[in-house]
Order: sequence, then structure tokens, then C-alpha cells
Amino acid sequence: MAVLSVSPETLSEAGRHLRSGGLVGLPTETVYGLAGDATNPSAIAAIFELKSRPADNPLIIHVADLAGAKRIARFDVRAEYLAKRLWPGALTLVLPKSADCPVVSAARAGLDTVAVRVPDHPVALQLIQAAGTPLAAPSANRSGELSPTTAEHVAASFGKRLAMILDGGPCRVGVESTVLDLSGPDAVILRPGGISADTISASIGELIERGAGAVARSPGLRHVHYAPRLPLRLDTDDPHPMEALIAFGREVPEGFGTVINLSPRGDLREAASNLYAALHEIDQGPWRGIAVMPIPNQGIGIAINDRLRRAAARG
Ligand code: TXA
Ligand code: MG
Repeated sequence: MAVLSVSPETLSEAGRHLRSGGLVGLPTETVYGLAGDATNPSAIAAIFELKSRPADNPLIIHVADLAGAKRIARFDVRAEYLAKRLWPGALTLVLPKSADCPVVSAARAGLDTVAVRVPDHPVALQLIQAAGTPLAAPSANRSGELSPTTAEHVAASFGKRLAMILDGGPCRVGVESTVLDLSGPDAVILRPGGISADTISASIGELIERGAGAVARSPGLRHVHYAPRLPLRLDTDDPHPMEALIAFGREVPEGFGTVINLSPRGDLREAASNLYAALHEIDQGPWRGIAVMPIPNQGIGIAINDRLRRAAARG
């Protein structure tokens, strides 16, 4: 059975598996990751292979604390301040790699920067400790498909090809980390995510959101992401007969077949944590499409709308 419940035994078994170059499905507070030893070229090759991920899309490196991050990346004052305030948490920092950075080049897609974060999940932190090495972990889905927020989603993506998935329950945040590029003089948000732009700018001042250079600086943004199988229509409260409706808030139109409400009380954090599970569920059902009600574009709602827009562009 690939899905394992967490115990001291399964954690040390997973740590040994990682040290010998194997891959592990890893719960984090954002989404599940497909973890491998960031210093082992064959583990990194296996991650790209299993996900069918384009080689030019670099991976996020997960460490247990700021000291671990400083072994792989160079921190300036801004980076150190944010790390101290917001880690562990859903913030990934893109920084110049350190002089003796042990992360293999392929995990960085050959760039001289490295993306690093400390996840806010006890199982992720314990597994990093058990493995004794930084873990490269992209979201544990095949490239271009929906991100996983349960161990079952991970098992459904990879089947027998992934021998070990640690079950940490459903992910609390539910959308991926915010990717913030601090490798140059401007602070640029390359991907909105679990920690809002307001929270970051309250700490370090001016921010550029998806600046003109963002696509060039974040290779991952060129690729299709977060795509369900079914076509998806945004900002509607008027679903077609064969569509399922993803709702938000109290005022939901009546008389339609299938409605999944991301948050009946209109809470954006709750909506984020339910987003991918709702998309996975509808995507496996008998419907012909997905209609989505408007979601307020503030706080974590910006990340929700970013993922939904990308899903709609594909559909
Ligand atoms: O919440 C998350 O970040 C999850 C969990 C598992 O930690 N991971 C995740 O990884 O979402 P992934 O691989 O699906 O997305 C990583 C993003 C991509 O958009 C990639 O292009 C960007 O981070 N990235 C990684 N390294 C980078 C670098 N050196 N420069 C710019 N962007 C980078
Ligand atoms: Mg991903």
C-alpha cells in the first residue's frame, strides 16, 4: 500500500528511502509535494521523469529552518527579515545560490538562483530531519494537472510508480506557496500563493506583482498549470445544465444539480483549502464542465483566482 499513516517507524523508513535516492509523497501545509534528496542527481532526475516535468522548470527546495536555508542560498537583509517573520510558512524565496550550494544543478534548472522554503507542517519538518538533507519537492501531480491536497490525490496521479506517500491529512492552506524573487534589487511576486502580497509588503515595503520580467525570471510560468480535464467558466452564477457549480458565500443560486460551496460563510482561507479537492471531485464526475462563481480578489483570493484563471485558459 503506497499511502502510509505517519508514525516514528514510517518516518524513519521514508527518511532511509530518501537517503537512498527514492521519492516520497510528502504532506505540507499548502499542497502535497513529490520529495527527493535535492543533493542527489538521480533522485532529481526521477522527480522530473515521474511528473513529466519540463527540464527548464526548477524545483522548490524544502529545509527545516533558516540555518538550513543559509547553507543553500545567500540571504540579504530583506530575505532574512521575511524568513524570520514568515517561516515556517507558505512563502518561497528565490535567492542567489550560496557559493558551496549542495543542490544539484538540474533541480535549479541550471539557474544561479535557488527557490527555498520552510514548510509549516510537522510531518514535512520531521521528514526533512529524518532524511538529513534538503528535499526538492514540486507539487505531487503530473505536470500540468491539478495539485493534490490529499494523499489519495497523490496516489491517483502516480499509482504504483510512487512507492511511498505519507498521509498527513488534507492540506490546511490548500494553494501553493507564494514565490517571491529577491535575487535582484526589486522584490517581485512570481506566483501569488498562501501568504498574501499585503503581508509581505507590510514587512519589506514595495512589491512588484508579476512584473514585466516575471515570466523570464520564473520559467514555470510559461507552462500550463492547474488544469482540470473539464472546461471551466469563471465569474458566473448561471451554470449550464451539464455543468457543476463551484460556489462561494451565502448567496448561491438555487435549482441547480451539483453545487460545491468552497465556503458558505464567505471565508477566503476556507475557500482556498477546499479549492483543489472540489476541482478533483468534479473532474472525476459525470459533468461536462465547471462553472465558478465570482471570488473576491483580495488576500488569498488573489491566489485562488490565479489558479482558476489558469485552469480556465486550458479548458
Ligand atoms: O507550496 C508549494 O510551493 C508546493 C509545496 C509542495 O511546497 N510546491 C510547489 O512546487 O508548488 P512547484 O514545483 O509545483 O512550483 C514551483 C514554482 C514554479 O513556478 C517554478 O518555476 C518556481 O517555483 N521556481 C523554482 N525555482 C525557481 C527559481 N530559481 N527561479 C524562479 N522560479 C523558480
Ligand atoms: Mg505545481
